[in-house]
Amino acid sequence: MTALLTLSNVCVDIGRTRLLDGINLTLNRGEVLGLVGESGSGKSLTALAVTGLLPLIGGKLSAGHINFDGIDLAAAGEAGRRALRGARIGFVMQNPMTALDAVQRVGEQVDIVSRLHLRLSASDARARTLDLMAQLRIPEPAAVAEAYPHQLSGGMKQRIVIAIALAGEPDLIVADEPTTALDVTVQAQIVQILTRLARERGMALMLITHDMGVVAQVCDRVAVLYAGRIAEERAIDPIFAAPAHPYTRALIGCIPRDDMAPGSLRGIPGSVPTAGGYPSGCRFHPRCAQAADRCREERPLLRPLSDDGHVACHFALTEPA
Ligand SMILES: Nc1ncnc2c1ncn2[C@@H]1O[C@H](COP(=O)(O)OP(=O)(O)OP(=O)(O)O)[C@@H](O)[C@H]1O
Ligand code: SF4
Ligand SMILES: [Mg+2]
Repeated sequence: MTALLTLSNVCVDIGRTRLLDGINLTLNRGEVLGLVGESGSGKSLTALAVTGLLPLIGGKLSAGHINFDGIDLAAAGEAGRRALRGARIGFVMQNPMTALDAVQRVGEQVDIVSRLHLRLSASDARARTLDLMAQLRIPEPAAVAEAYPHQLSGGMKQRIVIAIALAGEPDLIVADEPTTALDVTVQAQIVQILTRLARERGMALMLITHDMGVVAQVCDRVAVLYAGRIAEERAIDPIFAAPAHPYTRALIGCIPRDDMAPGSLRGIPGSVPTAGGYPSGCRFHPRCAQAADRCREERPLLRPLSDDGHVACHFALTEPA
């Protein structure tokens, strides 16, 4: 498979604080990659780096490279990155309420993407918009298209934001917690529709979530982030069968299962350290039951596993160098 997107040693700073510290990731064409980790682990920053939107939060790519289909995003410049967004990279932002224009009818907000990027006429664009809305299970698309965002429920607004991301037929969709604000059944439905539409169209999808249960259902691969670094990156089957990083094991242990006794859901003790206050060595060491002296002093590098995955833990069984 050819890599569509490659992040090599990506570092992101805001001011003097390093928020992402050496992220390595690969996303192949047509693949669904889950990006998981607790709140504050760096998922949204990774999304902003890939979509070229770091300046929105005053962030900058301070080291490393992001390569999208042979294009170096840093070298492409602001104009180049803007041209890629919408046309080749669709973005579903974490908060749909801020992603939509409050004073424009939602149908027009979808139309404009295919008019601009696929050069469709107004009527062809509208037909496409209504078709996309129907595929996203929006009831009465023609009526909803005439509504303003405030007239729609959270779930409908989120579907519109997804329609906008899909409308330009991009090669890659980056979806940042596309369902956080919604109730669980609506969440599951929207993620499933988004994944199905992306797969049908051969689009790659970077699906950001803190829910390992969602990842298990819809992703091909998963990258686990912790405190601005990759802890583990692997295909779905091996990571769930035999997670190599203690943090991945802990996240999998948090997935509620039908056979669990009431009240037995385990959280992970402690909390993600905040940027600027990261611990030395392995950043997970204050929360890790297996931590040894070495973990407090030496950063574990991302090393290959026998199944084509990677892990950053001193004590994981990796391939010899
Ligand atoms: N604009 C900003 N200024 C300063 N620090 C920031 C800014 N945005 C993010 N950070 C810090 O960078 C780290 C990663 O943030 P990020 O938003 O990527 O986390 P996340 O994984 O998306 O979390 P969540 O699940 O809550 O969305 C956090 O420590 C956060 O406090
Ligand atoms: S390197 Fe050490 S502290 Fe970090 S996850 Fe592995 S065992 Fe735990
Ligand atoms: Mg986020």
